[in-house]
Amino acid sequence: MAKKKTILDFKQMKANGEKITYLTAYDYLVARYEERAGIDMILVGDSIGNVQLGVGGTIPVTMDNMITAARSVRNGAPNTFIVGDMPFMSYQVSDEEAVRNAGRFFKEAGVDCIKLEGFSSAALSRVKAITEAGMVVMGHIGLTPQLGAQLGGNKAQGKSAEAALQLIKACQDLEKAGAFAVLVEAVPTVVCKAIRESVSIPVLSIGAGPEADGQLLIYADMLGFFDDFFPKFVKKYANIGEIMQKAFAEYVADVKECRFPIDGEHTYKISAEEAAALEEELKKG
Ligand code: KIV
Repeated sequence: MAKKKTILDFKQMKANGEKITYLTAYDYLVARYEERAGIDMILVGDSIGNVQLGVGGTIPVTMDNMITAARSVRNGAPNTFIVGDMPFMSYQVSDEEAVRNAGRFFKEAGVDCIKLEGFSSAALSRVKAITEAGMVVMGHIGLTPQLGAQLGGNKAQGKSAEAALQLIKACQDLEKAGAFAVLVEAVPTVVCKAIRESVSIPVLSIGAGPEADGQLLIYADMLGFFDDFFPKFVKKYANIGEIMQKAFAEYVADVKECRFPIDGEHTYKISAEEAAALEEELKKG
């Protein structure tokens, strides 16, 4: 079994040009398969609101939702570096609240790192405060779904020279504030490359092209499991949703038509003597 990676391993991977692999998970079973597949890092993302809780987005997701999910992922992947995603309003109000909620992820769920979105002066202050409290932080810039309303929707970012320069500065500021890595979402390849080259910490991509130090996908997108929408940057590796639906439909038909369960194959036995004794008792009424 591979040893759990640390922030030093990720720094070394960047230095060696070895790509970092990163997937989301929200539960024990999925985390277990990801660890068995040799993933480097797992994000317990607030995308849980879309793909697991079905609440239509990330805004309604609570700290309690995230702690339950992160604990379950830790149980499934004890030897993998796990990142807990700070949900909306768990860190926006003050440094103190941010440190307290980040601490819950470490104490109650056993994560290795937390991630938070944005690069405003408040976001930088939160990164600094959480780092100074002894925890590991990942930044997240580009398309940041919690700021979707301010961005005018969930669209690609950094598409002008000015916006790209702002993202480069944001990543540098996050590095200075103490972030050990930054996730860049939905920006052009050339912008991600410029960001990566401007800092010494790992820069990870979701929809930001191949120049990043590593790649993240939402597991339910790449498995063909979540089908409410399909982002342009996802590669589909399987059609799990179709496989599941077909299996469920076969089960429904089997039960309706009495093909399942089969007596003697899916059932428990009783000895002939006990069966006879039971019959006698039943006859007595
Ligand atoms: O919650 C999540 O899965 C994320 C990714 C979309 C980057 O933050």
